[in-house]
Amino acid sequence: MKRIPLAQKPTPLQPLPRLSEQLNINLWIKRDDLTGDMVTGGNKIRKLEYIFADAQAKGADTILTTGGPQSNHAKTTAAIAKKLGFDPVLLLAGKPPEKPTANLLINELIGARIKFFFPRHPREMDEALEKLAEELQQEGRKPYIIPVGGSNGIGSLGYLDAYLEMEQQRIERELQFDWEFVTAGSGGTFAGIHLGHQAVQASSHLVGISPWLSTADIKQRIIECMEQALPLLGPSLSTVQAPLPEQLDVSDAYIGKGYGKPTEAGMNALKLMASEESILLDHVYTAKAFSGLIDMVENGQITPGSNVLFWHTGGAPGLFALEGDRR
Ligand SMILES: Cc1ncc(COP(=O)(O)O)c(C=O)c1O
Repeated sequence: MKRIPLAQKPTPLQPLPRLSEQLNINLWIKRDDLTGDMVTGGNKIRKLEYIFADAQAKGADTILTTGGPQSNHAKTTAAIAKKLGFDPVLLLAGKPPEKPTANLLINELIGARIKFFFPRHPREMDEALEKLAEELQQEGRKPYIIPVGGSNGIGSLGYLDAYLEMEQQRIERELQFDWEFVTAGSGGTFAGIHLGHQAVQASSHLVGISPWLSTADIKQRIIECMEQALPLLGPSLSTVQAPLPEQLDVSDAYIGKGYGKPTEAGMNALKLMASEESILLDHVYTAKAFSGLIDMVENGQITPGSNVLFWHTGGAPGLFALEGDRR
């Protein structure tokens, strides 16, 4: 598959010595919050490198995607679309705020076309994109749809790459991880990481923490992304397979009151990371994932002295909406 290079890579793999001491484990972090300058980095850039190459190959001129009003994915998509000469249209699920802040403010500055709507189910987000694409086609545009979160087989390839990049860094430093933690929002990131994990036959236990969907729903999305990705892989990866749901360890136990709503444990985890290591997590995704990691240390599932990798997937700019138009 073709890829347009956009992210700053490799992202650092860093030890977290102060948190390691506090939690009595050896904790490392993969800094995918630092993927670059596409208006604030994060995990989406790696997926969009492949997705935009596909949009270009298909001769599109307009990019459609969806997400919540503070979606990191929608913002990054808009930024990349503009930079590459596409017209971005964002269908955002929620109410237009009185005053845009954080990612929504950035979308306005970028000059993305924004439409708000009210889906009752995640499936309706994809249906609304299809309908809008038809309307744009009738106006003579060539729309290209990016599903919520950029999560499909093509996007997942970005996280297969990320895993192979991390593997190289791990080998260079002679590290061995017992556990790996990553947020599983719309599933594409986890799907790509799982592909990479299989490709290198990693022995670590890979855990996904859902900030949005139920365990059953997010597992289904992850498997769909992997099934779509398999035919795109080269012959050297022919042994990689889509797992069965029971082979995935993904938990919805840390969502709290719902998507985008901060949890007390998540905010404590965010403060701990900020105060001990001067690294900012975000309240929607990574803080909840990190609170899951801490919980599993505290309840003894992760034993003292374990080697643990936390994938930081970005999102901190969303913090600036916490007191504003978060909904
Ligand atoms: C900061 C951040 N982390 C993690 C995720 C989850 O990634 P995915 O949707 O690929 O599961 C997202 C996107 O939804 C995100 O914005």
